[in-house]
Amino acid sequence: MEKQQNIESVLIEKRVFAPPSTFAQQAQLKADALAELQRRAAADHVGFWAGLARQHIAWHKPFTRALDESKAPNYRWFVDGELSVSANCLDRHLVERGNKTAIVFEGEPGDTRSLSYRALHAEVGRLANTLHSLGLQAGDRVVIYLPLVPEAIIAMHACARIGAVHSVVFGGFSALSLKDRIEDTGARLLITADGGWRGGQIVELKSAADKALSLGCPTIEHALVYRRTGQDIAMQAGRDLWWHEAVATQSPDFTAVPVAADHPLFLLYTSGSTGKPKGIQHSSAGYLLNCKLTSEWVFDLRPEDVFWCTADVGWVTGHSYVAYGPLAAGATVMIYEGAPTFPDGGRFWKICERHGVTILYTAPTAIRALMKLGDAIPQSHDLSKIRLLGSVGEPINPEAWIWYHRVIGRERCPIVDTWWQTETGAILISPLPGLTATKPGSCTLPLPGIEVDIVDDAGQSVTQPDAGGYLVVKRPWPSMLQTIWGDNDRYLRTYWQKFQNRYYVAGDSAHRDADGYYWIMGRIDDVLNVAGHRLGTMEIESALVAHPRVAEAAVVGQPHEIKGEAVFAYVVLNGARPVAAASAALSDELRSWVGEQLGAIAKPDTIRFADNLPKTRSGKIMRRLLRAVARNEPITQDLSTLENPAIIEQLRGEAN
Ligand code: WT7
Repeated sequence: MEKQQNIESVLIEKRVFAPPSTFAQQAQLKADALAELQRRAAADHVGFWAGLARQHIAWHKPFTRALDESKAPNYRWFVDGELSVSANCLDRHLVERGNKTAIVFEGEPGDTRSLSYRALHAEVGRLANTLHSLGLQAGDRVVIYLPLVPEAIIAMHACARIGAVHSVVFGGFSALSLKDRIEDTGARLLITADGGWRGGQIVELKSAADKALSLGCPTIEHALVYRRTGQDIAMQAGRDLWWHEAVATQSPDFTAVPVAADHPLFLLYTSGSTGKPKGIQHSSAGYLLNCKLTSEWVFDLRPEDVFWCTADVGWVTGHSYVAYGPLAAGATVMIYEGAPTFPDGGRFWKICERHGVTILYTAPTAIRALMKLGDAIPQSHDLSKIRLLGSVGEPINPEAWIWYHRVIGRERCPIVDTWWQTETGAILISPLPGLTATKPGSCTLPLPGIEVDIVDDAGQSVTQPDAGGYLVVKRPWPSMLQTIWGDNDRYLRTYWQKFQNRYYVAGDSAHRDADGYYWIMGRIDDVLNVAGHRLGTMEIESALVAHPRVAEAAVVGQPHEIKGEAVFAYVVLNGARPVAAASAALSDELRSWVGEQLGAIAKPDTIRFADNLPKTRSGKIMRRLLRAVARNEPITQDLSTLENPAIIEQLRGEAN
């Protein structure tokens, strides 16, 4: 195999952290149980999942066929079984833990509410009756456009309860994005709110919804409007209904409608390498199974835990680790409506202290933003209840990992760096917190029953340590996406075509070290080819961020006459006015720094300083936009979700 075909890994991180012994002693998943799971999975892959599905899911009708491969790679799990996802998350707990808190909510203004499993069950029942009275039936689509309030979870479960397919659209998306998604789903109902709170401001959800509906969306019959902020909004007679009025007369009891195991639970839109977002379609039983199992395995959930996954329900993380997995596992889930730094940088830590958060699951971008504010803020809060930390969404750079470990975890909490995707439904690669030694920047090892590998362009397994390649999953798993809504060809093309339907192609590049640990290098389309060397952009970013003066960095490729591609780095320095602190000397220093860390080949040809990086409301850096700017190409991206539009000029170098 040719060296050129591999993605070269140049980031070497040698620190290893054994699971803290107090944690390890109490962890629920023990080494012998893990070994047994691994043995069973290796001996009989399908039988392994079937056994877990029987044990962990309350079936309305048990399945007899575990996996239907007749339409592969459209795999169907537990096909002839029937269940209700809502009943599995709610009804199931009523006898044993009906009075246990299911949801603790804190609004951005500081208001709080908590709902027991019993109360949540009743609210979901009322809304399910409301949906039913509006004529909605199993299979109908419902779009949910709400702030992160308990009603978002109630709405998702009410849909699941009647078998309707929900599609949550993140409240930060514009009217146009909402319209596109509604139209793609063909939804009959929109559930929204007057507004929500973010950064001290009202996010005008209803007016955005009105605009979306005025531009099209012919399938929408009603909009159900939850009153959150209380500001004046327009209500269209006949179409719009207030949530509180609609549910007032409804019974809290609604017998959950059982659906087939592969009945779609939800659609969730995610961007691909081409423009149009993909409606990722997930099943009911398989999805629920992996969400529940990973909630238990990866987060070691115990009855007394307060689990805070900071993701919005507009993202898959908020589906799998807010609305479904932890509730299926009977946990207490914390949710927070607003911005992480409102009214100040201590908000996250204050929430942890006030509500006794024991498990915190957040994203590297948030960790870096909070790290930038210094140690004193988290140090002034009581974080002693936290016992486990998690990271998701992008590779966590070792600097941020160490800070998270030291300042938030106070060196006693394991960190689980969890790799997965909207498409995978649940975590596939992650440490098991009581068992797996961690290395900063590595998501470590695949979970039991998950067969991942790294392959080269020809689909051959890359066995040489630290040699990069395509991250693939070699066997179907229960929570895998079923298809792309309305476009199965795109499903086949995007995820299966590359290796002739043999492997699921995640679209990430990765390498595996001598211990078999996985290191995600970035998206394949973010891979640079510099003078025949393929470099993961993330590794260069990580090196830059390791410099004491750098807060954030994003690296893209720029066409280069001789080298093919040149490394173009956007850098945000530490401090209050990052660009003002930049200089040519610092630029040189950073270039040599990267040269030292990674080798001369990875040295950025251009460094452009900025006060910020362009991010979507979910915190993802808009790389395609950065690439367009670096190449002086016209910007064709949808900028409606850009958190900080003013940054464009600076990125172009016009304001420097
Ligand atoms: C992509 C999926 C999974 C929920 C949030 C994002 C990147 C995700 C990690 C991680 C390195 C990661 C990958 C993946 N990613 N987690 N722990 N380490 N990279 O879901 O929007 O579908 O994005 O996020 O590139 O393919 P998503």
